[in-house]
Amino acid sequence: MNFGKKIIIPLLLAGMVTSSACAETASNSMTGANISNKDKPVVWFNRQPSNSETGEIDYDAITFNKNVYYVGVDMEQGATLQGEMIIKYIMGRDASLDRNGDGIIGYVLAIGDTGHNISAARTRGARKACGTAVKKDDVIIPDAVGINLDGSSKIVTDGTATIAGKDYIIRELASKEMTSPDGATWNADAAGVAIDEWVKLFGDSIDVIISNNDGMGLKMFDNWAHSNNVPVFGYDSNGDCVAAIKDGFCGSVSQRADVQAYLTLRILRNCLDGVDVNTGIGVPDDVGNVLNQADFYYADRERAFLALNLAVTNENYLAHLDPRAPYEEVSHQLNVNEHPRKKVWLNIYSTEDDFLSQTYQPLLQQYAYTLNLDLTIVIGNGYDESSITSQLGDPSEYDAFAINMIKTDDAQIYMDLLSK
Ligand code: BGC
Ligand code: CA
Repeated sequence: MNFGKKIIIPLLLAGMVTSSACAETASNSMTGANISNKDKPVVWFNRQPSNSETGEIDYDAITFNKNVYYVGVDMEQGATLQGEMIIKYIMGRDASLDRNGDGIIGYVLAIGDTGHNISAARTRGARKACGTAVKKDDVIIPDAVGINLDGSSKIVTDGTATIAGKDYIIRELASKEMTSPDGATWNADAAGVAIDEWVKLFGDSIDVIISNNDGMGLKMFDNWAHSNNVPVFGYDSNGDCVAAIKDGFCGSVSQRADVQAYLTLRILRNCLDGVDVNTGIGVPDDVGNVLNQADFYYADRERAFLALNLAVTNENYLAHLDPRAPYEEVSHQLNVNEHPRKKVWLNIYSTEDDFLSQTYQPLLQQYAYTLNLDLTIVIGNGYDESSITSQLGDPSEYDAFAINMIKTDDAQIYMDLLSK
């Protein structure tokens, strides 16, 4: 789908949601007792049910029942923002950016998970902006290059940039999927190990560091880039990265955890109340909660509510120092008589993920209070889906579910558990 076109018409798309109201009627709110597990509301979040090889959406998972949605981020728009931020920075520097003076601006890239569509989009966005992208079947290849010191890789190509009146080559010197020895992806420690190795091999060729997320980026910043004045670009706007901007961390992208965490729980609330799914989202609820139309949109076919990203750099970081602050316009607590307490089971795929544990989870907890939801949060180990499913216990004890799979192909495992 073409996200680029969609972002200019959020009003219209958000409006469309009204037609796909949460299945039951307003007078018929869902209660755990009389609803079978397979009919309970489910929100997949942060990891879109999709084929990890082809990126194809898993439509069975998002149409599992009438009260199923995906909440995530507009990955293309965010990737473009990160790419533009990087190239703007490079072009705005002077000859000192080329640390070893060889006429090449070399960057290294930390990849989160080559099988996760969000990670692939960010790799593509960075390569596109730097002019290093290579296409296959008209799509930019998002794979890791390993080491490409001599520029001979077939996965990327050399780009060019004019900096202070002089032409330079831009080269992806190295890139790697940051996986722990256990197999956990988006792994910050793996990025720490990788930067140490890269520095040993070709330290003064590294002029810029790009990361698919902040957790990995900050590790590379702390281990080496900070003390060597090498710019690092991350993604997520976690509090610790935004705080590090004053110390030279170059920039990040906010994927609006404040919007996404709200959407994740709000959709479940609406489905449990049997009201229009857009309540308190695109249209005000009974206490005035409503999101700004400029901050998200709804993609009908994918049943996806997607937050729109914001660039965070030294120009505006002071306004983003507290990414756990709830979105003010949706912070009014619902009346507990009209919106009685419900039980939601929610999981986070890994204990090690800074974005989900540092930024997203505290927001979920705050919105759970606002929305009268009792949240049971379980956390997986990041590499074995059963580390999560073994903690589901008896699904009949919950009214609704919010799922953050380890692998985006694994939705069926959860659907099976709910179908038993
Ligand atoms: C975040 C990453 C996170 C990943 C997990 C992405 O949206 O940017 O930081 O590790 O989701 O699924
Ligand atoms: Ca150089």
